[in-house]
Amino acid sequence: MQKQVIQTGDGSNSIFIPEMNVAYHSIHGAVQESNHVFIEAGLKPLLHQHQTIKIFEMGFGTGLNALLSLQTAVLHQQKIDYTTVELFPLTPEEVVELNYTDENFVQLHRCDWEKDMVLNDRFSIHKTNQSLINYSTDKKFNLVYFDAFDPNTQPELWTKEIFEKLFLMMEPNGILVTYSSKGIVRRAMLEAGFSVEKIPGPPHKREMIRARR
Ligand SMILES: C[S@@+](CC[C@H](N)C(=O)[O-])C[C@H]1O[C@@H](n2cnc3c(N)ncnc32)[C@H](O)[C@@H]1O
Repeated sequence: MQKQVIQTGDGSNSIFIPEMNVAYHSIHGAVQESNHVFIEAGLKPLLHQHQTIKIFEMGFGTGLNALLSLQTAVLHQQKIDYTTVELFPLTPEEVVELNYTDENFVQLHRCDWEKDMVLNDRFSIHKTNQSLINYSTDKKFNLVYFDAFDPNTQPELWTKEIFEKLFLMMEPNGILVTYSSKGIVRRAMLEAGFSVEKIPGPPHKREMIRARR
C-alpha cells in the first residue's frame, strides 16, 4: 500500500494513503489534533492520579501520540507505561521521510517490537505488530487512545464487540478518548457499558468523545 508524507495545517507532517483516501491525522494539524484529543482530553486529567499511568493505543502509526505522551511524562514527572498495537508498521524510509527531528521520535521507532522497552526513567513502551481484533492481554489500562481510521473506512473496529473488549482491558474509572463523535460510535460505546460524553473537538471539528469505564 502506497503511503505519502503530507504537511498538515499546523506545519507538522503526517501520512496519507491514496488508495484508501485516508490520512493518519487531521489535515488541519497533526500535532494540534493529537494534543487536543489524546493529551489534553485524555492524559492531562489523569496526571498524578496513578503512580504509573498505563496507556493502550489502537494504531501506533507515525508514533506521534506516543511522542507527545513521552514528552508529557518527562515534563510532568509522571511515569507512563505505553502499549500500542499496529497492524501495518511504517518502513524505516517512511519514518525518515516524516522528518520529525526529536531524538525521542527516532527512539520510539527504532526500539524493538514485541518487547518491553524502557526509553527513560518516566516512559516505557511495548509495541506489538498485530491487529486489535486478535490482540489480548492481562494488563489493565487507565487510558485508551482509540485512533483507528474513521468508522467509514474501518467499520469493523468501531463496534460494540470491540468496545466491550476494550472495556474489559480497562481499570474502573479508566478513560477512552477518540476523535470521532459519530452517533454509531457513541451508541456502540454505550452498549459496551461506557459512560460517554461529547466534548469540544480540535479546531475544525465540533466534537469528540471521551468515555469512562
Ligand atoms: C489514524 S492512524 C493512527 C495514527 C497514530 N496514532 C499516530 O499517532 O500517528 C490508524 C492506524 O491504525 C493502524 N491499523 C489499521 N487497522 C488496524 C488493526 N486492525 N489493528 C491495529 N492497527 C491497525 C493503521 O495502520 C494506522 O497506523
